[in-house]
Amino acid sequence: MEKKNIDWGNIGFSYMPTDYRYVANFKDGKWDDGELTTDSTVRISECAGVLQYAQTCFEGLKAYTTKDGKIVCFRPDLNASRMADSCRRLVMPVFPEEKFIEAVEKVVEANAAYVPPFGSGATLYIRPYMYGSNPVIGVKPADEYEFRIFVTPVGPYFKGGAKPITIRVSDVDRAAPHGTGNIKAGLNYAMSLYAITDAHAQGYDENMYLDPRTRTKVEETGGANFIFITKDGKFVTPKSDSILPSITRRSLMVVAEKYLGMPVEHREVYYDELKDFAECGLCGTAAVISPVGKVVNPATGEEICFPSGMDDMGPITKKLYDTLTGIQMGEIEAPEGWIKVIVE
Ligand code: PLP
Ligand code: COI
Repeated sequence: MEKKNIDWGNIGFSYMPTDYRYVANFKDGKWDDGELTTDSTVRISECAGVLQYAQTCFEGLKAYTTKDGKIVCFRPDLNASRMADSCRRLVMPVFPEEKFIEAVEKVVEANAAYVPPFGSGATLYIRPYMYGSNPVIGVKPADEYEFRIFVTPVGPYFKGGAKPITIRVSDVDRAAPHGTGNIKAGLNYAMSLYAITDAHAQGYDENMYLDPRTRTKVEETGGANFIFITKDGKFVTPKSDSILPSITRRSLMVVAEKYLGMPVEHREVYYDELKDFAECGLCGTAAVISPVGKVVNPATGEEICFPSGMDDMGPITKKLYDTLTGIQMGEIEAPEGWIKVIVE
């Protein structure tokens, strides 16, 4: 397979149109068959449900080239079921989970020339999404929806790749509308844009959001869950029903326990515990595992520097990273059902 002539090692996390995208429409109570298209534009009514009441949700997953040249993706069934949860919460019709996986396969296969080569440091990001497309003026759900998937080759989410980042404790709550923090909905993310832009303007890479009710517990960042390593080698990750149930985090819990033999604690994590952890990382499809070197709390002036420092990923974070990416790229045997082969 002839790959596109792209400088794979130097792409960032941005949108690059590829040859094909997938599109399916819901009308008169049912989904059409869905098809690939070369048209990268969307044309909708000025009064479309998505434009008025933000009725939209999305997913994110990746395709990889393995060492032996296959194209695979990682646990797409979990993205299909999480998107179904997002749709139900937003009163949108569910795109059938089996069809979701088939559509991912179709669009990745059609864009195989854009799947970055093994070892290039880049991957193919896959973005399924859905929105209410017909006119809606009273506050109610749309009747018609479009489901689409585009793909785009991406490099590291944070500039500097695996270099530890500095984050701050956000003074603005992410303002996830109550009870919707655990779905991937456009409005949740729009409500975090102010805090993200402000963090960047102040020189931080990301925000740590605390639980808005007590501001004592660690939630997540704008686009990733937290993982922590204790000084005695335990894997700790926040449990909260107002954060996104990260597929990477759920996978890392298995990697930590089953592959690395670490005790795993999925529980409430208090901000006051941060100073006692040895390592900290952000995990997600886009973030993979991005190490955090420092957390600053501008409200109190407190700075927490993890012992793993600002130069390199901590040693246990590195083991988790190598094992997870080894599984994703076919170098380490995966648990049953984690890898979906798209092109042999
Ligand atoms: N939390 C938020 C807010 C996210 O946007 C993401 C990315 O999808 C994650 C966590 C990580 O989830 P996943 O590992 O499923 O990509
Ligand atoms: C993902 O990791 O798939 C996300 O949606 C996070 C976003 C910051 C790109």
